[in-house]
Order: sequence, then C-alpha cells, then structure tokens
Amino acid sequence: MRVAEAVLDSDKMGAVTDAFDVLVLGAGSGGYACALRAAQLGLTVGLVEKSKLGGTCLHVGCIPTKALLHAGEVADAAREAGRFGVRVSFDGVDMAGVNAYKDGVVARLFKGLTGLIASRGITVIEGAGTLVGPREVRVGDQTYAGRHVVLATGSSSRSLPGLEVDGERVVTSDQALGLDRVPASVVVLGGGVIGCEFASAWRSLGAEVTVLEALPRLLAAEDEASSKALERAFRKRGIRFLTSTAFQSVKHTDAGVAVLTESGESIEADLLLVAVGRGPVTDGLGYAEQGIALERGFVTVDERLRTSVDGVYAVGDITPGLQLAHRGFAHGIFVAEEIAGLGPTPVDESAIPRVTYSHPEVASVGLTEAAATAAYGVDGVETVTYDLGGNGKSQILQTQGFVKLVRQVDGPVVGLHLVGDRVGELVGEAQLIHGWEAVPDDVAPLVHAHPTQGEALGEAFLALAGKPLHAHL
Ligand code: NAI
Repeated sequence: MRVAEAVLDSDKMGAVTDAFDVLVLGAGSGGYACALRAAQLGLTVGLVEKSKLGGTCLHVGCIPTKALLHAGEVADAAREAGRFGVRVSFDGVDMAGVNAYKDGVVARLFKGLTGLIASRGITVIEGAGTLVGPREVRVGDQTYAGRHVVLATGSSSRSLPGLEVDGERVVTSDQALGLDRVPASVVVLGGGVIGCEFASAWRSLGAEVTVLEALPRLLAAEDEASSKALERAFRKRGIRFLTSTAFQSVKHTDAGVAVLTESGESIEADLLLVAVGRGPVTDGLGYAEQGIALERGFVTVDERLRTSVDGVYAVGDITPGLQLAHRGFAHGIFVAEEIAGLGPTPVDESAIPRVTYSHPEVASVGLTEAAATAAYGVDGVETVTYDLGGNGKSQILQTQGFVKLVRQVDGPVVGLHLVGDRVGELVGEAQLIHGWEAVPDDVAPLVHAHPTQGEALGEAFLALAGKPLHAHL
C-alpha cells in the first residue's frame, strides 16, 4: 500500500525513495486537478486535504454561488413571466428550498469527484498538512514524503484592518452561502466579482442591496464599457451602488448593522457582506521555514510553477495572478505533466477567460481597451462594439449588452468583452479567437447558427472586417 510505503518513521526521515511520486497539499481545483492528471500519467499520488475534496470552488465558491444565482434567475423569470405573456403568481422565495437545491448540486458533484479520485488510485490523506522538510508533509503524527511536492492550499476571504467578521451580521461569502433566509437588506462591501455576484443574486431573491466600492466603477478590472453596462443594468434592477466610496466602519444596531462610508453616509441593513478580495493561505504551513520564497504571502513561482525549493511546485490561488478555479485546474495539469516529463507549454495568464455570473453576465478574455492602448498606443488600437439589440436570440431572451472587440491595428484581436445574460457561455469561442491570435478576416467567414447569441460575435467580426450585416456601422 502506497501510504504505508510513504509514511516515514523517524529513522527513515529523508528516505524519499519510499515517497509518493507526487505529494499534493490541498485538494481544491489546483490540487485535485494535479492529482488526477498525475495518476493518469502513472505516477503515485498522495493528496492531503484538511476539509473536503473539491475545496473552495466546489463547497463555498463557484458552484454554490452559481446555483444561488440560478435560483435568483428562476425567481426573476417567475416575477417577470407576464412580459412573455405567461401567467405566473410569484409567492416568494423559500430559502430552505433554495439551499436544498444548491446543496444537492454540490453534494452530487462532491460524490462524483470523490469517486473519480478513488478510481484513479490516488491516496487521500485526511488532515491538515504542514511542510516539515523540503519535500515532507506532516499530517497529525505521520510524515509523508514526495519526490515532488505540490503546494495548493488556496485562498480565503480577506477583511480590512479593524473590520471584524462575526459570521452573523458581518459575513464573508462562505457564511453568506449558508444563510437560511434572504436578508431584507444588505450592504455589500466591494464591487468586485464576489460583490457583484452576491448583489445580483440577493436582489433577484428580493433583498434591498447597496454596494460600496472604493474604485470609480464596479468590476474595475474589466473593460470600462463592461462596467458601465453592468452599472446601467444594476441601476434598472434597483441595486444601489456607491462607487469612489470607501468603507469607514460598521456598528451593530438593534436590527442589524449601520455601515459608515468615508464620505460620511450611514447605511442601515440586516447585514454586511465583506467582499474585498481573497488572500493566499500560506501562513503557518511551514513554507517560509522550508525556504519557500514568498511575497506578500503569495508563493513566488517561475513560469514553470517551480518554487524556490527544488522539486516543490505551487499552483492556483497561492501564486500571484488571477484567482480563478479554471486557472487552478490548468496549473495543476501543467505541473503533473511537467513532473511526468512531458514538457508541457506553460499556462498563459493573459489567455485565461473571466466571467462574472451576475444578471447580466460580464465575460472577457485578453486586454481591455485601456490596457491595449497602453501597450500599443492610441493609434495602435481599433475597437468595435456590437450591441445585442441587433441579436435575435438576445431579443428573444430580452437581454441587453454587447460584444466589444479590441484589436491591434492591422493585427490580431487582443481583447474580447461581452455583457448580457448567458454571454459567459460565449467566452469559449472568444478565447479560441484570442488564443489563435485571429485577425478579423479569419473569423468573419465563420458561419454562426441563427438565432444564437454566438452570432453577435460573428457580427462583431463582420463589422471589424468592414462588412457589418445587422449593424449601423
Ligand atoms: P475583487 O478583488 O474582485 O474585488 C474586491 C473589491 O473590493 C475591489 O473592487 C476593491 O476596490 C474593493 N475594496 C477594497 N477595499 C475597499 C474599501 N475599503 N472600501 C470599498 N471597497 C473596497 O475580490 P472579490 O470580489 O472579493 O473576489 C476575490 C477573488 O475571487 C477574485 O480574484 C475573483 O476573481 C475570484 N472570484 C471569481 C469568481 C468568478 O470567476 N466568477 C466569482 C467569485 C470570486
């Protein structure tokens, strides 16, 4: 049995020959993807996890939040059914039912993942692991060794100095997902991805929502046009947001919280969601002690995801860059293949797609117009925006938004930005176009099925190629 072989007693400490080929610390998206791929490549794998296989994404991140958003979409559809000539009486939201649905989705995926990991012969080591040697991980009173070690301990919600998260009135996204009621009113601190997704879901489920954002716009990392479109949609939906407004303090009231902004406004609500970013989980795990170089808590890696210690890799949210589950998967697969000697191509950070699953969705890949202008100069960038108003399927769905292409003049498309319900599903084609460094004439001849939202991408490319069809350009 591999575990027995890999457990080192004190006089064998350092006898790494008995080790797993790959010892992974953390079974979130990055860690379990690495484990699955390594096992597929015939390597022996130990996977250490202190909580549940699947990590943040499966249990308190991507999957449950998208289920919550989908429940919100169903509520909106019921409320607005009259617009489509369908008579429905909307009696409200039963949060216990929403949670049962959400938890059911998570439970099914968890069961599937657990079975998959077992079927690949991966040894799951339950417990909190600490790096006690360059390639040794201690779990409880046992030490496991790996010929290679992969650090994949992920991220956790951050707060602000002096802002105490009590889990009841001041909550993080983890706790927000466990609420047994829809709050009547909520202040969302941070208008980034988490803030906008929760604001959207809660509004759909019936809450009064105010978002506080220190920067001048919501989703400040996205193209400015995307932020403006989302803000317009949020305004129409009755989601209040205060941009260029920093948080000052919060105090408990009889009914909930009173949130004070730096501009002096006080907002009362049932609860405050803190969504000011996520930080790497690297403290107290023995990384620094074993000589792993860290910067602001993140593990320093080179393009092949090697840490400063030979044979030790790091993947996912603990490395600087986009904190996204699909980046973690890609990192994990890369490292497994690297260890197996396949010489894989490094993960291209600039080609990773981004989707915010709010209503409407915001999706993108590549450079914003501002970043492209900074890279190629004002005269070096051309953009075209195709309004979903001209897209049949989007009209059928009654959604608004656009496809915006950012192109290097006489060169490839370097950024694609989409806003509208369901446009997250279009990011797959967008990333193919981006990854292939397509010029407009490459893409314009592709025939898109009618009526689909994908046609909007096709139309934008027709416009960029100088032959718009359904557009006044
Ligand atoms: P974020 O970095 O996207 O947004 C945090 C926001 O809080 C920023 O806009 C920041 O300006 C604002 N902020 C910080 N301090 C503030 C203050 N004192 N007053 C007012 N505003 C303040 O981080 P977020 O939304 O917490 O998400 C964390 C990570 O999780 C992100 O990297 C995100 O990409 C990832 N994530 C991705 C999802 C997706 O791909 N759909 C869904 C949820 C999270």
